[in-house]
Amino acid sequence: MKNIIVTGASGNLGQAVIQQFLLEGWQVTGTVRSQKTEADNSDDHSFKKVAVDLNNETATGEFVTTIIAEQGKLDAAVLTVGGFAMGSIAETTAKDIFIQYQLNFDTAYAIARPVFIQMMKQGSGRIFLVGSQAGMNMEKSKGVVAYGLAKSLIFRLAELMNDEAYGTDVKTIVVVPSTIDTPQNRRSMPHADFTKWVKPETIAGHIFLNCISDDPSLLIED
Ligand SMILES: NC(=O)c1ccc[n+]([C@@H]2O[C@H](COP(=O)([O-])OP(=O)(O)OC[C@H]3O[C@@H](n4cnc5c(N)ncnc54)[C@H](OP(=O)(O)O)[C@@H]3O)[C@@H](O)[C@H]2O)c1
Repeated sequence: MKNIIVTGASGNLGQAVIQQFLLEGWQVTGTVRSQKTEADNSDDHSFKKVAVDLNNETATGEFVTTIIAEQGKLDAAVLTVGGFAMGSIAETTAKDIFIQYQLNFDTAYAIARPVFIQMMKQGSGRIFLVGSQAGMNMEKSKGVVAYGLAKSLIFRLAELMNDEAYGTDVKTIVVVPSTIDTPQNRRSMPHADFTKWVKPETIAGHIFLNCISDDPSLLIED
């Protein structure tokens, strides 16, 4: 059975990705911040919820080691943890940037690194990082300075990983969602046209298709 780690199991995108891979018959391990955190799919025998502090590099490395010891290999990882903050340069302190860095990059790097090391040993694997339009294009970072800067590192990391893995079947793919149709976004932008927003399930479907492809697109813009 193929297996996958999904971080942010309680989140909108995390839930959709977990659902997609369970439907496809994969073994899914979802990370949450606390074991008390609700994550649906708990009844599915192919789903395991694990509490991991992704800002703790040692704990995160031990989590990956345990999964590999239990399952013998790791086929894919989808790292959905992240969050948003507004603010122009005048409104953004260095500490604000550090907070966004910790939330959007540190939580990804701490797990991407041991996952990448394992996949390089195997010679295959798929790692999905979640960027954003602001992170891809600084024009779109105006007014979201800390968020855009933190997400921009996701793209640079993917470039470095794909460079190191060149010639192998280890691929790192950046997912770039536009506005996702989530309850939180509907609450904060009640007058927006929700039909223009991308559904988490649509992104999850694209992630799955790229995950099983021999020649995945390294950028998924949804
Ligand atoms: N929503 C959008 O419109 C949009 C647009 C572009 C990009 N994105 C990106 O897409 C990804 C998923 O978005 P989403 O809307 O699904 O987000 P979401 O529903 O807010 O889910 C975020 C997940 O991250 C977890 N999390 C937050 N801080 C954490 C931390 N310090 N350590 C570990 N876990 C933490 C949350 O856990 P808890 O449940 O415990 O809080 C939750 O499971 C994010 O990276 C986001 O930046 C989103």
